[in-house]
Amino acid sequence: MDEDSLKELSRWFGEYVLTFKSGDTEEDRNIVLKKEHTARVRREISEIGESLGLSEEELCLAESMALFHDLGRFPQYTRYKTFSDRRSCDHAALSVKVLIEERVLDALEPAERDLILKAISYHNRAALPEEELERCLFFSRLLRDADKLDIWAVLLDYYHRRDVEGYRNEALELDLPDDPGICEEVRRDIMAGEMVRAEDLRSLNDFKLLQASWVFDLNYWPALVAVKDRRYLERTRKFLPRSEKVDRIFDLLISRLEERIEAEVPDDEA
Ligand SMILES: [Fe+2]
Repeated sequence: MDEDSLKELSRWFGEYVLTFKSGDTEEDRNIVLKKEHTARVRREISEIGESLGLSEEELCLAESMALFHDLGRFPQYTRYKTFSDRRSCDHAALSVKVLIEERVLDALEPAERDLILKAISYHNRAALPEEELERCLFFSRLLRDADKLDIWAVLLDYYHRRDVEGYRNEALELDLPDDPGICEEVRRDIMAGEMVRAEDLRSLNDFKLLQASWVFDLNYWPALVAVKDRRYLERTRKFLPRSEKVDRIFDLLISRLEERIEAEVPDDEA
């Protein structure tokens, strides 16, 4: 894929998104939120990809995955008024469906098309299918890292505004109640070095801990370093109850992040 093809895809995306503007301020805000998320995930994926030494062609391919990864969010929100897949539909599968039905990728090589659709369909899965080809796994991991880096920033900004300005957006909270405390299964998963499972979420605090547990799921060194440099873990901690239990969770997460960065330092950075 070259830059001209990417520009054409980007133009199509802009037009598609416009069709979801309803005129309702709250609803349009969520559409804009996902549009801006898409633009930032494109930047994140380019930066990680450049750090990893991808070719121009590979960078365009990666950017097109970022461009379309949340395409399904627009019809999902318009139809169900939520971003909770549990309460509506799998938004990644919906992204793929739209791309196929609208024949958006028809001008691309079949192998590229296949790769883009697969990486998108895997971006929100709990884990990647082990039997996939290495090239597909590579791009899928890249997309998952770029996506998480931005979602994390969006949610930190949201928690801040929620506490300081009282601004609420239930779509972003996945309709979870803001109950005190944390769920025992969630604590146990993290202390065992595992990602929190979506089905264990009982409250907004559990959801914040799920994001923190992404430290176990990030793949590439530049993404791990970004989490450290941007102080995502320390900032997430501030939005959780003050308790020894939560302190222990974050001590573990912060030291695990450090260990992973140390273990994966590339040769030219050592
Ligand atoms: Fe997504």
